[in-house]
Amino acid sequence: MILQGLNPQQRAAVEYLDSAVFLSAGAGSGKTKVLTHKIAYLVHEKGIRANRILAITFTKKAAHEMVDRVERMLGIRPRWISTFHSFSVKVLREDADLLGMSFDRRFVIYDTADSLKVVKEILKRLNMDVKEAGAAQEVISKAKQEYRSSIFDYIEALPYPASSYAEVAREYQKDLESSNAMDYDDLLYFSVELLATSPETRMKWSERFDYVMIDEFQDTNDIQFSLIQLLAGQRRTLFAVGDFFQCIYTWRGSRPSNIERFIREFGAKEMRLEKNYRSTRRILDIANTIVNNVESGWSHKVLQLHTDRQEEGDIEYKNHPDAISESIWIAEKIRKLSLSHAYSDMAILIRMTFLSRAFESIFMQYGIPYTIIRGLAFYDRAEIKDLLSYLRFIANPKDRASFERIINTPARGIGKKALSKIRENFRTDWLTALRETKLPAKQRLAADLFLKTLEGHIGLVEERPYTVLMALIEDFGFFTYIEKEYKDESAERMENISELSNVLHALEEEGKPFSEFMEDNLLSSEQDKIGNEDSVKILTLHAAKGLEWPVVFLPALEEEIFPSAKSFLSDASLEEERRLFYVGTTRAKERLYLSSVESRMKFGEISFMTRSRYLDEIRHHL
Ligand SMILES: Nc1ncnc2c1ncn2[C@@H]1O[C@H](COP(=O)(O)OP(=O)(O)OP(=O)(O)O)[C@@H](O)[C@H]1O
Ligand SMILES: [Mg+2]
Repeated sequence: MILQGLNPQQRAAVEYLDSAVFLSAGAGSGKTKVLTHKIAYLVHEKGIRANRILAITFTKKAAHEMVDRVERMLGIRPRWISTFHSFSVKVLREDADLLGMSFDRRFVIYDTADSLKVVKEILKRLNMDVKEAGAAQEVISKAKQEYRSSIFDYIEALPYPASSYAEVAREYQKDLESSNAMDYDDLLYFSVELLATSPETRMKWSERFDYVMIDEFQDTNDIQFSLIQLLAGQRRTLFAVGDFFQCIYTWRGSRPSNIERFIREFGAKEMRLEKNYRSTRRILDIANTIVNNVESGWSHKVLQLHTDRQEEGDIEYKNHPDAISESIWIAEKIRKLSLSHAYSDMAILIRMTFLSRAFESIFMQYGIPYTIIRGLAFYDRAEIKDLLSYLRFIANPKDRASFERIINTPARGIGKKALSKIRENFRTDWLTALRETKLPAKQRLAADLFLKTLEGHIGLVEERPYTVLMALIEDFGFFTYIEKEYKDESAERMENISELSNVLHALEEEGKPFSEFMEDNLLSSEQDKIGNEDSVKILTLHAAKGLEWPVVFLPALEEEIFPSAKSFLSDASLEEERRLFYVGTTRAKERLYLSSVESRMKFGEISFMTRSRYLDEIRHHL
């Protein structure tokens, strides 16, 4: 039953169990489908318990989809389908105290903004330029992703100025540890560190799984590879799928050479899928042309896409005078297509986020429902972060970033000077530090009120976050603060707070712990924000990985946008742009609409654009 509906190659990949496997195949050939069917096959036909299979995917959305699909086939919900990050969180929530550091299992997770704040603080402390914060953060992050036992030695050995961030990194790790906090990279870094240094912990985790599967393998980085090695141990029950040509994250440390490494180190059998089920022939012709023009070093990797589908589908390209006419053209198309398609069957894939603005205003005029999936999410808004920081801090009074965010929000007269005194008094946690700091009478009064209010809620946040939130809003006069602080924008901000309280209310009713909820938010990527509502989705090409729509628009196909101006600096990044274009075209099932413009406004001035080189390459197909 489970093998039904699979072609012979797919079936072979599901049934083969004699060694590790790397399944290599082009976009839309059913790799993800094979992976989910293999899970069902192992459980149903081979008697392996679903909870003894670990499957790792690239985004939480992909993980959820996989859980749903397996559940439909088996009638049970498998527990260990997750992203690298959420898997690491599970390891550390269970075993962080075995790290031999002062972390405990209730550590908080700092997002990029939290961690940048800490880096800035340290640069000030070390009399270095705060403007370097971004660069320092990047170096530290990279050092963790390219896992070596000491990130400090690694940084010191880098060419100047990167080498000068070793001291920053030392201070940064110290600060985070004393806050009982980890950043995103730490999650993987400390999981690997733990499994690498503690044989018992390694045994425990690797014995938990009979099978380990990985989707989108081409975008794994060094540390993720190490994690897989540690979990695999001596076993060879590994199954990875990927497409060399869809590697689009090398700028974030992913290594397509991990595919060869996987085959070599695990003695994996290479299997292939050749037929494409997603797209019409004309769409595949375009995708094939794009991959055929790759630099010679990659050419032996090229997998041609074939399909049996007879229908032609629709492909159209149009050049427009400017961005407004391009948006109108797309809006008209969507309006026509909406007679035969749902809005959610259509997506606009953009190379850069600023491009979404033009569509927004035109779609509003046309009454086209749309959803922009962008980086700055609900939970990144200031008022939401303020309130969540209160809750996070009450749950973990060691959390420095949260403390510094809330101590003077709303303003209670505790400024920079007082804060640096409090910092000096930090020993175990920030409540004690605040209590023990000598402050002028007025500040003392404010501090005592703050302490008293927060202490009243200790121990409650985990189970009753909504109750605590509402009490805090009341106690600290948060609404008055919002009105004063944000004036014209305050109504919108209140709406956001109301939305947050709705979410926490539901959470409390369900009895789901607050910490788990925070994890879910922090670990969701752009792609996870795609809901199921009936609207046209506007998202970046990077976020579109693994997904598919009947109708896809690729606008703004111009030099310096796609490929991006930044990519001109190296051949390697130009090649990555080409792969990104391949990923973009292969998201389309039936219709693909390409467009470019003659001119765009840049900083208030007209700038003339050149058609993207990709359009010239595929002109015979347009
Ligand atoms: N044997 C099959 N019969 C019918 N449809 C199939 C078959 N195999 C795959 N499909 C369909 O083809 C589409 C692409 O499959 P899937 O997403 O698994 O491909 P993929 O190789 O993972 O693509 P990507 O490289 O973009 O991640 C899906 O809609 C899937 O249901
Ligand atoms: Mg896939």
